[in-house]
Amino acid sequence: MYKVALLPGDGIGPEIVPQAVRVLQAIGEKYKREFSFQTALIGGAAYDATGHPLPEETLAVCRNSDAILLGAVGGPKWDNLEPQLRPERGALLPLRKKLGLYANVRPASVNSALAEASPLKEELVSGLDILIIRELTGGLYFGQKHREDIPGGGQKAVETLEYTTEEVERVARLGFEMASKRNKKLMSVDKANVLESSRLWREVVEEVAKDYPDVELSHMYVDNCAMQLVRYPKQFDVMVTENMFGDILTDLASQLTGSIGMLPSASLGGEVALYEPIHGSAPDIAGKNLANPIATILSAAMMLRISFGLETEAAAIEQAVAKVLDQGYRTGDIMQPGKTKVGTVEVTDAIIKALG
Ligand code: NAD
Ligand code: IPM
Ligand code: MN
Repeated sequence: MYKVALLPGDGIGPEIVPQAVRVLQAIGEKYKREFSFQTALIGGAAYDATGHPLPEETLAVCRNSDAILLGAVGGPKWDNLEPQLRPERGALLPLRKKLGLYANVRPASVNSALAEASPLKEELVSGLDILIIRELTGGLYFGQKHREDIPGGGQKAVETLEYTTEEVERVARLGFEMASKRNKKLMSVDKANVLESSRLWREVVEEVAKDYPDVELSHMYVDNCAMQLVRYPKQFDVMVTENMFGDILTDLASQLTGSIGMLPSASLGGEVALYEPIHGSAPDIAGKNLANPIATILSAAMMLRISFGLETEAAAIEQAVAKVLDQGYRTGDIMQPGKTKVGTVEVTDAIIKALG
């Protein structure tokens, strides 16, 4: 029995998480695996129901599970709450930190049926398969934060960007491990020409590299990296970078694949792993059966592979997704001329059917 905590959250979260659950149930039936699901509140939904975006009970449900599947949190309704009650700063970041999830693995691979859905030229992206590892519990997100009034008028806002040797080392090590299982190329992305934290980052990555002589390490500044990802993305394979750079570069990378609705992620390193799409709660399309559930369904596949060791089942989901895209089913975000436009539920129906 595999125990999965479900945290649907806000916006499209409660639409996409149930689709991934339907796919997991279909996998369970086909391969005789038993999954149990326990749903808990997080984000604005939790704030509305309990007065706090990350109730203790939610943490307990997570800690008592074998893996966590999260939708997304946040939305305009909660944007003006005080910071520690906001879904992002009051729930998602503390959840990652409390569970020790220091590495967020975000694969961006281009499905052959979608190569022409990318805003980039087809030949630049077709066959692309990159893996971005984003440090998840350090950096600006978790530094000191404060505001003060400036005498005479205005305010000053301060945040600190902090990294320790240990924080860089563990995520770098994961980068090298993943690179050694792929094409033995690791790109570390930083801003070492300006930031002291990046200079430490680079020194530590160089040090860890000594343990992986067969992996070719290179470094790139983050501004150049953003440009290179658009200019010639196939030069990259495994990349490792700090928290905020990784947040921004992965949204950018999602466009190489056709849509942000396609990119899954796994947050690793702690007591229990968390799987979530890289996109947000998409308030502009919430509640309309328009959201692309594939990023969440592929996150569930990552869960099967990484947390449960169910490689065959994970690959079956990925193949079913590929088949449905080949068949021409498209949610609005990846719609192309001549294809069949379907909703959140209908594309999942097709994926379940393709599972056989
Ligand atoms: P977003 O990712 O929610 O949406 C950006 C754009 O992409 C929107 O036009 C949206 O409709 C579209 N989009 C996103 N996911 C999609 C999907 N599955 N299918 C089709 N289209 C999709 O980013 P945003 O608008 O900057 O943020 C909205 C809210 O989500 C904010 O409150 C933000 O803080 C929050 N957020 C949460 C997470 C998370 O929980 N992990 C991640 C990012 C943003
Ligand atoms: C993500 C999101 C979050 C982040 C926000 C909502 C805190 O953008 O998961 O990519 O920046 O980590
Ligand atoms: Mn993001």
